[in-house]
Amino acid sequence: MDLSMRFRREMDKGLCRDTNPTAAVKMLPTFVRSTPDGTEQGEFLSLDLGGANFRVLLVKVVSGENRRVEMQNEIYVIPEDVMRGTGSGFFDHIAACLAQFLEKMGIKERKLPLGFTFSFPCQQTKMDEAVLMSWTKGFKPTGVEGKEVVSLLRQAIKKRGDFDIDVVVVINDTVGAMMTCGYDDQHCEIGLIVGTGTNACYMEQMRHLEMLDGDEGRMCVNTEWGAFGDDGVLDDLRTDIDRDIDAGSLNPGQQLFEKMISGMYMGELVRLILVKMTKQGLLFQGRATPELLTTGHFKTSYIYTIESDKFGLAEAERILRGFGLDPTVEDCIGTQRVCEIVCTRAAHLVAATLASILRQIRDNKAAEKLRTTIGVDGSVYKNHPQFSRRLHKMVRRLVPDVDVRFLQSQDGSGKGAAMVTAVAYRLAIQQA
Ligand code: BG6
Ligand code: GLC
Repeated sequence: MDLSMRFRREMDKGLCRDTNPTAAVKMLPTFVRSTPDGTEQGEFLSLDLGGANFRVLLVKVVSGENRRVEMQNEIYVIPEDVMRGTGSGFFDHIAACLAQFLEKMGIKERKLPLGFTFSFPCQQTKMDEAVLMSWTKGFKPTGVEGKEVVSLLRQAIKKRGDFDIDVVVVINDTVGAMMTCGYDDQHCEIGLIVGTGTNACYMEQMRHLEMLDGDEGRMCVNTEWGAFGDDGVLDDLRTDIDRDIDAGSLNPGQQLFEKMISGMYMGELVRLILVKMTKQGLLFQGRATPELLTTGHFKTSYIYTIESDKFGLAEAERILRGFGLDPTVEDCIGTQRVCEIVCTRAAHLVAATLASILRQIRDNKAAEKLRTTIGVDGSVYKNHPQFSRRLHKMVRRLVPDVDVRFLQSQDGSGKGAAMVTAVAYRLAIQQA
């Protein structure tokens, strides 16, 4: 509850014109003013960049009686050297994947509208302009921070000269999840991601968005809650292990809340705890192996298997043997317990910040009882056998007066980006 109150204060700080420049939680305007109403239609391209997979999609949205969305997609690899190379090399690679996709679909000659899901903190001034504030997660191409990413993409495409597209919108993956779920459930007004990173967006009243002119209606705000605590407000809750994770990361001092939660760090959190307990003689007869001592060796997906209901303990043993250890039953139970604690803490941290957003929406609507839907995506939420249950339970405990539905975003951000593109494209044509 205390944490939830702290986050509500951070939200206020980010929304307020005077305090925004120094706020850790940036509360970024997205220029998405409404959720889908079912009349969206057309054929669109989507780029989904920033999660575990980089995908290119062709999305067909059909309205009317046979209302439906059809999608074809390809996953492309971004090699390690491209992830850590130059910005121009990075966007050249994206453009090359797009060219391959268009070729494969036989649509290289068409100039289709494209929605770009770019899942990083961006300052937006309109729908098709996004200045990257800082890379997060494992991305680090040089010379992109502070630059407008849509024009970098357009330049890379122009340089090739073998196809043309119309980049209409750029959105965050949280917005993609909200819009995807919003297509099926009109109550959806929150988007949540618990995957490689963690973040949420929600529909806020324009009058509260002091950074923008205008008081009418609502706009989706990308909270960028991963940076909660970057100004020190979580220091009393962060452990030595959290500090170690941060110190060894690509972006020390940044995304401190995210580093306590998301899939990129969860496995390493468990590994560091196991190492510490081994050094204290509490596990593996005090003998750590080189494999256990290697950074990044304990994958987050191991936690999913170790916490599975049926074979969890047997899996723990198999995984620990893979680390060259000879675990006893107690060692396996201990490891399972560490996984449970790390995951439960993550679920409860997300529940606390979600509760703040739910209260904000309830207060905005001056509703005694709020009925709302959260569109959710991300590998931790989808693949961890217990995470969602732990999260739901804690949210319901923290905000018992809100009737919340969690809806899993089925087709990732591709569909959501197409929805936003459809609306923007319709408006652009009307205005032309
Ligand atoms: C995907 C969405 O399903 O989930 C992406 O399409 C999003 O846009 C991702 O970034 C988040 O999960 P993860 O686990 O891939 O980081
Ligand atoms: C990171 C990014 C954020 C994204 C989240 C989930 O926190 O900064 O933009 O939404 O990861 O992918």
